[in-house]
Amino acid sequence: MNDTSLLDAARTARKHAHAPFSGFQVGAALECADGRIVTGCNVENATYGLTICAERVAVVKAISEGVRQFTRIAIVADTDAPTPPCGACRQILWEFGGDLEVILGNLERETGRYRLKDLLPLPFDGRALNGSRNGASR
Ligand code: THU
Repeated sequence: MNDTSLLDAARTARKHAHAPFSGFQVGAALECADGRIVTGCNVENATYGLTICAERVAVVKAISEGVRQFTRIAIVADTDAPTPPCGACRQILWEFGGDLEVILGNLERETGRYRLKDLLPLPFDGRALNGSRNGASR
């Protein structure tokens, strides 16, 4: 799928956002290695803290469908400046996607393009657990 179509998939997913508290709607489209696209939108909760970002919804959907290999993610919000993934989403994306290409966009155009390792330098991951001196391992 080309970049424009991946961004369009994120724009379509964004229309399903449940964001009555912030009014900030986000859509994500995760490209899987087999070409499949799994989308997500942010789902807010009245407790605020239980809100789930669009990116994490997409990752969790994909994992639950048995998909484990990812290549890119497009993230769309209605902002002129790039809306980058939050810290929690960077960590989850790294866990399952490694050094994904992250394409940011708004409703009209692409606003930025990054590698995840540049957004999350020195990530904590399973390698740290395997290197533990007190026995934890994966
Ligand atoms: N949000 C996302 O869905 N993804 C991000 O990367 C940043 C923030 C959502 C969470 C919340 O529903 C709203 O945007 C405002 O923070």
